[in-house]
Amino acid sequence: MEFTDLKRQYAILREPIDARIRRVLEHGKFIMGPEVREMEERLQIYTGAAHCISVASGTEALLIALMAIGIKPGDEVITSPFTFVATGEMIVLLGAKPVFVDVEDGTANIDAARIEAAITAHTKAIMPVSLYGQPADMDAINAIAARRGLPVIEDAAQSFGATYKGRRSCNLSTIGCTSFFPSKPLGCYGDGGAIFTNDDILAGSMREIRVHGQSGRYNHTRVGVGGRMDTLQCAIVLAKLERFEWEVERRIALGRRYDSLLASLAPRVRSLMIGSDRTSVHGQYTIRTAERARIQEALREKGIPTAVHYPLPIYKQPGYAAAYAGLSCPSAEKLAREVLSLPMSADLTEAEQDVIVAAIREALRVAA
Ligand SMILES: Cc1ncc(COP(=O)(O)O)c(C=O)c1O
Repeated sequence: MEFTDLKRQYAILREPIDARIRRVLEHGKFIMGPEVREMEERLQIYTGAAHCISVASGTEALLIALMAIGIKPGDEVITSPFTFVATGEMIVLLGAKPVFVDVEDGTANIDAARIEAAITAHTKAIMPVSLYGQPADMDAINAIAARRGLPVIEDAAQSFGATYKGRRSCNLSTIGCTSFFPSKPLGCYGDGGAIFTNDDILAGSMREIRVHGQSGRYNHTRVGVGGRMDTLQCAIVLAKLERFEWEVERRIALGRRYDSLLASLAPRVRSLMIGSDRTSVHGQYTIRTAERARIQEALREKGIPTAVHYPLPIYKQPGYAAAYAGLSCPSAEKLAREVLSLPMSADLTEAEQDVIVAAIREALRVAA
């Protein structure tokens, strides 16, 4: 069994993917070819945002977004400690300080009720993460940001396709950043990402920053990065869009099915909460259990892969800990001890899901 089954997806989408790749090989415009703009237009329509800027990765998306809003040394950016390291890393890379606000115990997303207390004169942005594919409480976060005149960057690397109050993730705040890492809900076959905004000025800045701060050929009006997404990767995303809406619905349905199959194992195994006003695309399907080691080992013996997203809050990582002595985010720390991600992809079958849940039952010695 695969953790993310990309082989089955390719077997189904082989024809459009191969045709798209062939077209790029034939026209030969490997950098900023026509598929780049085509993908941006398709994703712009999908999210409802006024602008989509494709970039080299989700990490690059965060970096370019932070650069566009002018984050510089000495600034503070409020974010979640319980996320992939890139979220905090890009803030540090610009010489600014991630200010970690604890997450909600139920959703593992930043606790909006704690944000206001963390704002100082140095705060320049709020960067929530839509973890595991479920948007954070964006209205509550946007309301605080509006009161304080701060931009909000949604790290939507795991949540492309999810909705919050009927609106699409990536188009829920000042800027939305996503990733097309192969295992993401919408993945390419290498690195890729995109940035979304409704702000024309920020969009212009981010387009320039993506190509070395260039506003015209060899006219560098600002400092930028080499942050373009390859034409071939855009072509793959375009091919995958053919059944993406079906994949989103399928992921939502598989997530609900996992929830109901696992319900009888509570409180030893618990699913994360999904807000009734939003959907999760389950970039990961993640459970909580104090018996993680036992379950993980039992599943491994049966050939069922699992993963821990994430074993430490960022401020406890060796490269970051020195700057955060004494910081405690109890919910993030408890989640880090308890979370376990199970196999998830649109092509996972119900029969496989049954095998996974039966293996968890057996590990816990609970009769079916
Ligand atoms: C929450 C989060 N932010 C940022 C990233 C970085 O994306 P990428 O791997 O495309 O650079 C990821 C990807 O793993 C992620 O999960």
